[in-house]
Amino acid sequence: MSNEKKLRSAGWFGKNDKMGFVHRSWLRNQGYPDDYFRGKPVIGICNTWSELTPCNGHLRDFAEIVKRGVAEAGGFPLEFPVTSLGETIMRPTTMLFRNLASMDVEESIRANPLDGIVLLTGCDKTTPSTVMGACSVDLPTIVVPGGPMLNGRFRGECVGSGSFNWLIKEKQAVENYTDADILEMEIGAARSQGHCMTMGTASTMACMVEALGLTLPGAAAIPAVDARKKVMAQLSGRRIVEMVKEDLTISKILTREAFENAIVINAGVGGSTNFLIHLLAIAGRIGVELNLEDFDEIGSKIPLLANLKPSGHYLMEDFYYAGGLPVVINELKKYLHNPVITVNGKTMEENTRNTPCYNKEVIATVDEPFQKEAGIAVLKGNLCEQGAIIKPSAASAQLMKHRGRAVVFESMEDYHHRIDDPDLDIDETCVIVLKGVGPKGYPGMPEVGNVDLPEKLLRKGIHDMVRISDGRMSGTAAGTVVLHVSPESAIGGTLALVQNGDMIELDVKERRLHLDISDAELQKRKAAWIAPEPLAVRGYVKLYIDHVQQANLGADLDILRGGSGSEVTRDLH
Ligand code: FES
Repeated sequence: MSNEKKLRSAGWFGKNDKMGFVHRSWLRNQGYPDDYFRGKPVIGICNTWSELTPCNGHLRDFAEIVKRGVAEAGGFPLEFPVTSLGETIMRPTTMLFRNLASMDVEESIRANPLDGIVLLTGCDKTTPSTVMGACSVDLPTIVVPGGPMLNGRFRGECVGSGSFNWLIKEKQAVENYTDADILEMEIGAARSQGHCMTMGTASTMACMVEALGLTLPGAAAIPAVDARKKVMAQLSGRRIVEMVKEDLTISKILTREAFENAIVINAGVGGSTNFLIHLLAIAGRIGVELNLEDFDEIGSKIPLLANLKPSGHYLMEDFYYAGGLPVVINELKKYLHNPVITVNGKTMEENTRNTPCYNKEVIATVDEPFQKEAGIAVLKGNLCEQGAIIKPSAASAQLMKHRGRAVVFESMEDYHHRIDDPDLDIDETCVIVLKGVGPKGYPGMPEVGNVDLPEKLLRKGIHDMVRISDGRMSGTAAGTVVLHVSPESAIGGTLALVQNGDMIELDVKERRLHLDISDAELQKRKAAWIAPEPLAVRGYVKLYIDHVQQANLGADLDILRGGSGSEVTRDLH
C-alpha cells in the first residue's frame, strides 16, 4: 500500500471509490488483470509512429518491444499516439508544428495516469517536440531514438539521404540527369526503415538526447533495422520502471552541465545547426539558463572527431560500426562535465570509459582531429542584432571572410521566380539575401537558407556563395550559409531593410555580419518600413504567429516556456 501511494497513477487507480472503479473498469476492457492496477508503475509509451512520417514507420513495432521490457520489470505499459511530424512531407514546414506537437505531448502526459515516460522518436522534430513536452511535466523519462537508415547506395557510391537531394539541380544542369536517373536514385537513398543516415538533424537530435543523458549509452547511432536497436528498446523499457522507483525525473538529468556537455558533443560530431534552436527550446522548458553565445563559447573550439556527411565522408551506419557516440564522448572527456548522471543511473564517464574506436577514419582522436575547431559560430552586427549563426565546418574556407554585393529576394516565391532568370544581375562574389523565412514571417522558419545557386553559376562550376536569411538549413545541407538572423525581417529586423546593391561584410573569425550603410540611411529605411500583413487570422497558425519567439530564444511559444509539473489540480467528476 505504501508503494501505491508514491505512484502518481495511484491517484487514478488506487482508490476503491466510484472514480477508482471508473478509471480501472474501462481500461480493463483491454483485458488487463486486476493486479495491474495495484502498485505497478504505469509507463506511458509516447509514440510518434505515423505512416506519414516515413522515418518513424517502424516505431509501432518498437512500442511492442518496449512494452516487453516494461512488463519484465514489473511495470504496466500503456502506449499513446501523439502528433507526428514527417519532415519530407508536411507543408509548409514541420517547424511550424514542433511547438504544437510539444503541447500535445505535454498535455497527454499530464492528463493521464502515468508514472514514467518512454519517448519513441526519429524524424527531425519528433525528438525535440517530445522532449520539450516531457520537460514541461517533469516525470522520469527515457528516449528511444528510432535509429538511422542503412547507408544509401547508388551506382556503386555511398549516398547520404538528404545530402544527395541538394545536388539534384546541379546533376540535372551539369550531368544531364534524366527522370529515370532520379527515380533510381530515390530508392537507393532510402534502403531501409529509419531516419536520415547523414549527420543531419535527426541524427543530430539522436546524438543530442544521448549527450544529454536521456538515452541508454550508445543508443543514437544503432541503425533502425539492426537487431541491437530492438535490444536497446527492450532494455529502455526495463530501465524506465527502475527510474520511476528511483524518482529519477528528467529535471534531475537535464542540468546546466548536461546542456554544456551536449554543446561540446554536438561540436565533436559536426551536428546540424538545428541543434541550437531545439536545445534552446528544451532549456527554456526545463528552466536552465542557456543563450546563443553559450554555443559559441562552449562549442566553437571543440575539435571535429566524426567524419560524417554533410561535413565529412561517412554515414551513420559507419559511425555505429566505429563505436558510435560513446567513442566521441570518451575522446572529448577533458571538455565535459563527466560526473553528470544519465538515465541508467550512471555517470557519463562511467558509461563511456575506455570505449574502443574500431575505425579511426570515421572517428578521430582529440590529438588528431579531422578539424581543429568545429562547432557553430554565432555572428553579431548591425544585420543581426540578436545574433545569427553559421556552421564553419560545412562552409567554404575562402568565403569565411567576404564582402559582396547584396542580391535580395523578398520571399521564397520571389526567389523561385527570379533565381534562374538569365538576366539576373548576379555573380559568384554576390551575397544572396533571402527575407521572409523567419519564425513569424513564413510562418514556421523553414529549412530554405541554403537556397540553390543560380543555374548559370552552377554551369560555370560555382558550388558555393554566401547566403543570408532568417530561415534555417537542413542538417543534411552544406555551404557558406548564414542562418537564424534575429530579429527576423517580418518584425522589422535590419534584414528587412537590405536593398539590392548594398554591400555586406561577413567575417566569421571576427564573428561579424555587417550591412555597410550609414546609420542615418539605416534609420531612414527603418522609419519607412511597413510591416507585412499577418498570414493567418485564425487557428493554431494565428496562435503561433502571435506567440512564437525569435530564433535566438529557440522559437518556442512564449506561453509554453517553463513547465506546469505533473499535478492535475482539477479532478474528473
Ligand atoms: Fe526524417 Fe530526414 S526526413 S530524418
